[in-house]
Amino acid sequence: MKISVTTSDPCALTADCLIVGIHQDTPVTGVAATVNRATKGLVKRLLDRNDMDGTAGRCMMLPLDTGVNAQRLLLVGLGKASTARDFETAVRGAAETLGHSGSRNAVFALTSSGRRATQTGQQARLVAQGFSDAQYRFDQMKSHKNKRPATLARMTLTVAEGKQVASARQGVREGNAIAAGLKLARDLGNLPGNICTPTYLAQQARKLGRSHALKVTVLDEGRMKTLKMGSLLSVSQGSRQPAKLIVMEYRGAKRGDAPTVLVGKGLTFDAGGISLKPAGGMEEMKFDMCGGASVFGTLLAIAELKLKVNVVGIVPSSENLPDGAANKPGDIVTSMAGKTIEIINTDAEGRLILCDALTYAERYKPAAVIDIATLTGACVVALGSPASGLFSNDDELAGDLLTAGTESGDRAWRMPLWDDYQAQLKSPYADMANVGGRSAGAVTAACFLARFTETMKWAHLDIAGTAWAGGKNKGSTGRPVSLLTRYLINQAPTA
Ligand code: BES
Ligand code: MN
Ligand code: ZN
Repeated sequence: MKISVTTSDPCALTADCLIVGIHQDTPVTGVAATVNRATKGLVKRLLDRNDMDGTAGRCMMLPLDTGVNAQRLLLVGLGKASTARDFETAVRGAAETLGHSGSRNAVFALTSSGRRATQTGQQARLVAQGFSDAQYRFDQMKSHKNKRPATLARMTLTVAEGKQVASARQGVREGNAIAAGLKLARDLGNLPGNICTPTYLAQQARKLGRSHALKVTVLDEGRMKTLKMGSLLSVSQGSRQPAKLIVMEYRGAKRGDAPTVLVGKGLTFDAGGISLKPAGGMEEMKFDMCGGASVFGTLLAIAELKLKVNVVGIVPSSENLPDGAANKPGDIVTSMAGKTIEIINTDAEGRLILCDALTYAERYKPAAVIDIATLTGACVVALGSPASGLFSNDDELAGDLLTAGTESGDRAWRMPLWDDYQAQLKSPYADMANVGGRSAGAVTAACFLARFTETMKWAHLDIAGTAWAGGKNKGSTGRPVSLLTRYLINQAPTA
């Protein structure tokens, strides 16, 4: 989809559809007022009669033959607070409604007034990102590809003032890059475990390296053995698929600038191992590599943007299966950091592979290290799908990530890492146990990782509830690619 930006009057533009936002509190202001005048009070009448209101995402499509040059008018509710989240909901609603019409091109009238250039940029970004994400389909495994309805080919964004054009264009650029990152992350997540293996992910990393000038290194099991990654290797020893530690380096800043390191859990299938999971819904555990996939997607997005930052992506990848050689409850392994771990539950395997990857991250002397993992069912219980769980040993880093979450609509919520919880990981036999009992499961998992990141500014995002959806929208969401990309854009110097 091609997107352009103009200051033309939206009512004067010829298009299949004109999209206009309605604020919940101030419904007929700005562009809505302009369109209302052009249509002889139609917008106000619809609102007065309660045929339409400003609830975020609420849509109403009308055929038009007078007043505006577009053939249809799509009114979309923007919600109350004009948050990124509300605007994203609005864009999604608009994209879906528009999809049911035959519209091939549309005009989206951005609503923010000239005083807030950042808001214009944000809206433009969310339109670009949202419309292309809404058109996402995963049909590469079908022998007969679904016939796609005619999709939107062209979109024109109108802004009120000339000085908003530059920020809108930059927003479109960011939105397109994030959309490409989301697509990559979603594709990798949706692929089944028999295709998306650790070896497959390593191949995809090399491919991404070639197309986007990343330096890619893949450590095989022999190399990991030399590095004494006993914890990571204990997980893959029960699988026929060899583990891989994938390292992707993006250099957009000076050589000496400390990189941000992103570490993504890449469990291509998690059956639980000897502590086997119940059968119902187990197919969803192909999504246990979505943290890793988000690292791929974020690197793609920032490389497309040529962002002036240094970023290293590390994806430890393995399967977790029951087998004669698999980890057994009670086994004690030694991590790369030298700390010993008693494996009480072989299904708490994510932390076992992440701890060695985090120790490996130390060699990059990172400005910050952020791990992203579908780590605990407990996090799904705590926060559900609206927010990823955020844990950090650094308040500034935590604040920056929360801000990026708010700005992108891909939100996180901070959880505690207090020492009080560390006691739950005590083991009579080893330095620690790999699980901390029933209570505060998301926190004790994070506390486990905290023991391997004491020398670094570190944050952990538990995306178990956000990385994929069930029900009618079943599939990978690509989260938190937009949060991470926003964070890195905010870190980059403004040139
Ligand atoms: N990959 C799972 C976490 C998970 C479970 C994500 C359900 C999304 C939905 C992880 O490896 C796991 O199995 N965690 C265990 C930890 C427990 C044994 C302490 C869990 O959450 O049950
Ligand atoms: Mn598990
Ligand atoms: Zn897992």
